[in-house]
Amino acid sequence: MKLFLDTANVDDIRRGANLGVVAGVTTNPSLVAKEGRDLTQVIKEITAIVPGPVSAEVVATDTEGMVAEGLRLAAIAENVIVKIPMTEAGLAAVRQLAQQGVKTNVTLVFSVNQALLAAQAGAAYVSPFVGRLDDIGQDGIALVADIVDLFKLHGLKAAVIAASIRHPMHVTQAAMAGAQIATVPYAVLKQMTQHPLTASGLEKFLADWKNATEKK
Ligand code: G3P
Repeated sequence: MKLFLDTANVDDIRRGANLGVVAGVTTNPSLVAKEGRDLTQVIKEITAIVPGPVSAEVVATDTEGMVAEGLRLAAIAENVIVKIPMTEAGLAAVRQLAQQGVKTNVTLVFSVNQALLAAQAGAAYVSPFVGRLDDIGQDGIALVADIVDLFKLHGLKAAVIAASIRHPMHVTQAAMAGAQIATVPYAVLKQMTQHPLTASGLEKFLADWKNATEKK
């Protein structure tokens, strides 16, 4: 399973990219708004840092508007993926963009049927939201597993991006469920590197080394 960073913070993306584990980036209007920066500029910078797919989301809600916005976003860089919300108008936009060779990521997916529709409309990626389902007492990871099974069973080509990832356990579970990608906040990526036994083990190695070398 590949890891994407779910952020519009260019510094975090640079830090994550330095680790060599970030294969792509996803953004959404909330994440870009949080940075208080121009969308086109932010996407331009991100696509220059990460050569993999970078999702940029439309804010239009009608098909024509989404397609026009999607084409503008796709023109920013070759690795831009146009993120489209899972609505009727969105599905029609996905189809039109696919016909023009523009890759899309259908977002705000909360059911197997929505994922089926998105894949059939021609989405390259579908993004089930794990944490937001957990928030309302439904099993977000079970949805990811079901969508992975469905796509396998019916030979659907879209890749599954486990999104709305809130903690490292979600990442492990998404990987075990067969998601092709998990998109994670930078804080979760950092948590994934850590283990208390790694920290205490290193502390002991260094203390033993210091003791031994000081005795010489
Ligand atoms: O990729 C979608 C993600 O940004 C949503 O995450 O934590 O706002 O539910 P969250």
